[in-house]
Amino acid sequence: MALVTSKEMFAKALKSDYAVGAFNVNNMEIIQGIVDAVKEENAPVILQVSAGARKYARPAYLMKLVEAAVIDTGLDICLHLDHGEDFEICKKCVDDGFTSVMIDGSKHPYEENIALTKQVVEYAHAHGVVVEAELGKLAGVEDNIKVDARSATFTDPEEAAEFVQRTGVDSLAIAIGTSHGAYKFKGEPYLDFERLKTIHNLIPDTPLVLHGASTVLPEFVNKCNQYGGNIPGAQGVPEDMIRESTKWGICKVNIDTDLRLAMTAEVRKFLIENPAEFDPRKYLSPARAAIQGMVQHKIKNVLNASGKR
Ligand code: G3H
Ligand code: 13P
Ligand code: ZN
Repeated sequence: MALVTSKEMFAKALKSDYAVGAFNVNNMEIIQGIVDAVKEENAPVILQVSAGARKYARPAYLMKLVEAAVIDTGLDICLHLDHGEDFEICKKCVDDGFTSVMIDGSKHPYEENIALTKQVVEYAHAHGVVVEAELGKLAGVEDNIKVDARSATFTDPEEAAEFVQRTGVDSLAIAIGTSHGAYKFKGEPYLDFERLKTIHNLIPDTPLVLHGASTVLPEFVNKCNQYGGNIPGAQGVPEDMIRESTKWGICKVNIDTDLRLAMTAEVRKFLIENPAEFDPRKYLSPARAAIQGMVQHKIKNVLNASGKR
């Protein structure tokens, strides 16, 4: 049991039709809910921390909470920086003891993305840390009206192959139609599987990463709304599309929004049903259990990762 890199997890996942769940963490209850699920399912896991999560929880707390999760569960856990935007934050996380960092240079021109990614790879590898980079832009829902226009920002397969070769990056996040948050598609959900297959065929040894992979299950949106919420017209990636993607090199699937919805639905329900209650432990216990339930569902039914530890 230790903090580990994703190297072995990805090497195994690449050979088979499953993916490692990468779940975003912000506090103790989320971490506990995830690792309880992972232990129950005997699955590999990546806990990922965004810049926003780092700011909210403060770096030392998150680090110690994840170390505590390793001790408490006996699991191997990969601790990953999600969407690092510059060299400095990646360096800080490497220095703090993260085992994996993402440098997200996708907003920069191609050559700048390469230069930035190379710089992070050089530093991280020298410290035994692995690196994820991103090429192509995840579309916003407003770009979804015309698939043609939207796919202009998708990852170019030839560029992806050159990018991996020139940067020495360990895994690559690609854009094939997903986006972050609860509003991913206005019309029919669409992922460019032909593009994914082409990328995978060109770089079969590179683990690919799918961001924006929440499904936004109606059950949880409805539950939030039933208990005083007002979440309009949310739509995520159908679960069968996520499962399909694991056949074509997707080894890491990022999920945050679905955890937020599951947790918030439970807190809303509890507070509406128990208006006189004000002990945070009372509403955070079912919220933590909801995280566990959602993560077990993902591992078992979407990622096909049960028993793959
Ligand atoms: O991709 C972004 C993750 O969902 C983290 O979101 O920046 O609000 O923490 P955040
Ligand atoms: P979702 O918003 O679909 O959960 O995506 C999370 C993500 O990609 C984190 O990097
Ligand atoms: Zn992301």
